[in-house]
Amino acid sequence: MIILFCGDVVGRSGRDAVKQHVPMLRREFEIDLVVVNAENAAGGFGLTERLCGELYDAGVDILTTGNHVWDQRQIIPYIDRDPCLLRPANFPKATPGAGSRVHRVGGRSVLIINLMGRLFMDALDDPFARLDDLLVDHRLGEDVAAIVVDFHAEASSEKMALGHFADGRVSAVFGTHCHVPTADAQILPGGTAYQTDAGMCGDYDSVIGMHKEPATRRFVTKMPGERPQPAEGEGTLCGILLETDDLSGLARAVEPVRIGGRLARHLPRH
Ligand SMILES: [Fe+2]
Ligand SMILES: [Fe+2]
Repeated sequence: MIILFCGDVVGRSGRDAVKQHVPMLRREFEIDLVVVNAENAAGGFGLTERLCGELYDAGVDILTTGNHVWDQRQIIPYIDRDPCLLRPANFPKATPGAGSRVHRVGGRSVLIINLMGRLFMDALDDPFARLDDLLVDHRLGEDVAAIVVDFHAEASSEKMALGHFADGRVSAVFGTHCHVPTADAQILPGGTAYQTDAGMCGDYDSVIGMHKEPATRRFVTKMPGERPQPAEGEGTLCGILLETDDLSGLARAVEPVRIGGRLARHLPRH
């Protein structure tokens, strides 16, 4: 199975990058499933029902999120009506929405899991224990054909640790939240694809997607300043292309995707 996973969509530039490039990538690489983290799609803060629809129309199948999921309050009543929109699975038990989904892809089942880290982030339930719980009923290559984990976390150490913790039991662990792609795409010894951060879909002439002047001034002056706005130059789509083995569910190939905007272009070999 061929899966495209894209990092945090930031504002209009990020949405436009998805709309512009995902349909072409789907065709070109015969992609079966597209998973996109959309926690910053609405002006950098959260997402709305309308923007979810726009991303689905562009060819996205599953939306994941993270710490910004509730920034637009309208998403709270909406999330239970949209089974393809996930929030971290280790949020408190009574939280609206779901943290994982078994998605049907051409007769096969794929489990997508959204988790959030705890290092330098808000206190949450243990993501390692939650992952263990979820994997009890979803054995890779038996119950589901592939398992993709979006680990939305700040610390590279926590992300790497979760990658090794899950190695051999899921198809891929891909990090989000840092808004910068890391150069460590690899298949771990047990067969799980891993990249510490997928990077953002957004304008890289910015500070993690937001206008660079006010964001820089805040560091210089240590004053709060105005509400941050997304940078509006051409966005780069940052993602990861994953090929899984249809029998074992483990990774056969993993390679970064960077297209459009300022970052050096990288497209996987066919
Ligand atoms: Fe983000
Ligand atoms: Fe985040």
